[in-house]
Amino acid sequence: MTFEVSVLDWFAKLWEIEKNEYWGYVTSGGTEGNLHGILVGRENFPDGILYTSEDSHYSIPKIARMYRMQCVKVGSLISGEIDCVDLEASLLANKDKPAIINLNIGTTLKGAIDDIDLVIQTLYKCGFTRDRFYIHCDGALFGIMLPFIEQAPRISFKKPIDSVTISGHKFLGCPSPCGVLITRLKYIDALSRECGIIASRDATITGSRSGHAPILMWYALKKSGLIGLENEVNNCMMKSRYLLNKLRDAGIGAMLNEFSNIVAFERPQDDQFTRRWNLASNKNISHVVVLKHVTIEMLDSFVLEFVQKRLIWSKYGQFQPLCIANDVGS
Ligand SMILES: Cc1ncc(COP(=O)(O)O)c(C=O)c1O
Repeated sequence: MTFEVSVLDWFAKLWEIEKNEYWGYVTSGGTEGNLHGILVGRENFPDGILYTSEDSHYSIPKIARMYRMQCVKVGSLISGEIDCVDLEASLLANKDKPAIINLNIGTTLKGAIDDIDLVIQTLYKCGFTRDRFYIHCDGALFGIMLPFIEQAPRISFKKPIDSVTISGHKFLGCPSPCGVLITRLKYIDALSRECGIIASRDATITGSRSGHAPILMWYALKKSGLIGLENEVNNCMMKSRYLLNKLRDAGIGAMLNEFSNIVAFERPQDDQFTRRWNLASNKNISHVVVLKHVTIEMLDSFVLEFVQKRLIWSKYGQFQPLCIANDVGS
């Protein structure tokens, strides 16, 4: 309990919300944070429509299905950021219903950060007053990174946002899945119920929760400290730019959004290579998330192998690789 409150207070400060104005808990990860944030939105706006970009994490459409919510998929820009022109058209077409917006801070594949200020501006422009919208920020990876980057967009409850979540096992590197969800205290009554058996009110998604998770998060935050976290973030940014330049110098199409440590590039043609490097891919794009354990040597050997294999793929691309039992992808 003490560890959990300490972790929550730390994040409340990071995202600029007063102690007596927030409610939160340590979750099992970003997905549970999304489940909770969107549920708070739904319970406060039962007829609200969920808007989310097509680049959102798969948990968002899954949550819409679980809650049987009407969900409008909004288009994305090439960067992966939500397209506010499309959002405006969708909001205007559904003006009679409150809006529950899921914002990606940032997207899973391309690390694009939805523009919080532009989305808020778009809501007001379409006639949605503050009492008719709810904004959930899915900050699984960047929610803890952006506050340490100069010039990066601010995640702040001083803006009209309503909940923020992060995963503790992503940037912080906690050894088992965990996360944080923070929302405005005033919303939680719509969700919480008296539970006699635990002598408390319950407003969480799960019942029993890990007691280790708050300790792991507390330890990760304490071990690095603010300056340590800032250095780690800057180091990841530097290595991401290094990887981007290396890939481009080798003639491999690659992109890196500003304030992002996710380098996206053309999908390698060989599944063995993809498996060996554990690359996450979607359609014709793969990515590398450059976290603190990733060294320059690892990036060098990744690009070297990519380039060597690419030569082979371009020469013998018409042949499918032979698959044999116990193939370890050597
Ligand atoms: C944008 C985004 N949201 C949510 C999640 C889910 O987080 P978790 O794996 O902690 O449930 C991810 C995971 O990759 C993500 O990238």
